[in-house]
Amino acid sequence: ALVPVELSSAIERLKAERDAVILAHYYVAPEVQAVADYVGDSFYLAKLAKSLPQQTIVLCGVEFMGESAKLLNPGKHVLLPEPAADCPMAHMVKRETVDAAREQYGDDLAVVCYVNSTVEIKSWSDVCVTSSNAVKIVSELPQRNVLFIPDQNLGRYVAEQVPDKHVILNKGYCPRHHVITAERVEAAVFAHPDALVLAHPECKAEVLAEADYIGSTAGIIKYAEESDASEFIIVTVAGVLYELERRTRGTGKRFYFPATRPTCVNMDMISLRKLVTCLATASGEVQIGVSPEAAAQAKLTLDRMLEYAA
Ligand code: 13P
Ligand code: SF4
Repeated sequence: ALVPVELSSAIERLKAERDAVILAHYYVAPEVQAVADYVGDSFYLAKLAKSLPQQTIVLCGVEFMGESAKLLNPGKHVLLPEPAADCPMAHMVKRETVDAAREQYGDDLAVVCYVNSTVEIKSWSDVCVTSSNAVKIVSELPQRNVLFIPDQNLGRYVAEQVPDKHVILNKGYCPRHHVITAERVEAAVFAHPDALVLAHPECKAEVLAEADYIGSTAGIIKYAEESDASEFIIVTVAGVLYELERRTRGTGKRFYFPATRPTCVNMDMISLRKLVTCLATASGEVQIGVSPEAAAQAKLTLDRMLEYAA
């Protein structure tokens, strides 16, 4: 077993004592996913956090995921097993970029913020999106001009899918996905010619051009599970392999990655040991380090996402 029985029973006991529930993202270590009550993509985790009865939410993911859960559930305890696990992309936009676009386009501009962003950046924005709902939400916005922050790659992908919108891009990127090259993907296709290429929209345009399917982590997993194909080249962080294998066990489906398996050093910081310490000591409480007004504004962007995506 991935997790020793004594450890999983200790986790069960601590959860009951604290009235806690464990949520995990598909990128965290397999043993952490194995003990979580719910595992999902960013949108699923944000939506789910609002519907749970427990008083304490332990979020096995990076800082912005904990912050989103806290903004949506201000009355609950939201704990991060490793509060230092941050997403570098979450910081990659400057206030001036937003101010300049608002100045230029006035009321006919929506500032659309990828959920991978700080609370402060969300507070400058109009609506949040994740990779699983960005196309739908942008297409339904009343404004024609869209400033998409921070991720240039998801922004460009959305712009292509919604050609009637004028999408202004920002230079942010995910350091794990942005370094994947088309050559690497082509080499994997050459080695496995029958495999379908499933890619995350945080990849560069040249990589997405190689893809048979583009979607969020949950989208990639669902596609592989439901597909008639038996081989897949997975172009996202390798943490998804645990759920891919779990859902396709016994089917003979095989999964490959581009030459260098993408990992996220930030997600990798969340260990089983830290999860147990967090539960035992109730440490790692999420702090929303902005003014109450900015926090309310940031929450509004998440509420709007949940409304649009409903
Ligand atoms: P999704 O799980 O929403 O696809 O997001 C991927 C990601 O990079 C989260 O940090
Ligand atoms: Fe951030 Fe990229 Fe890691 Fe996701 S994979 S948490 S976008 S650095």
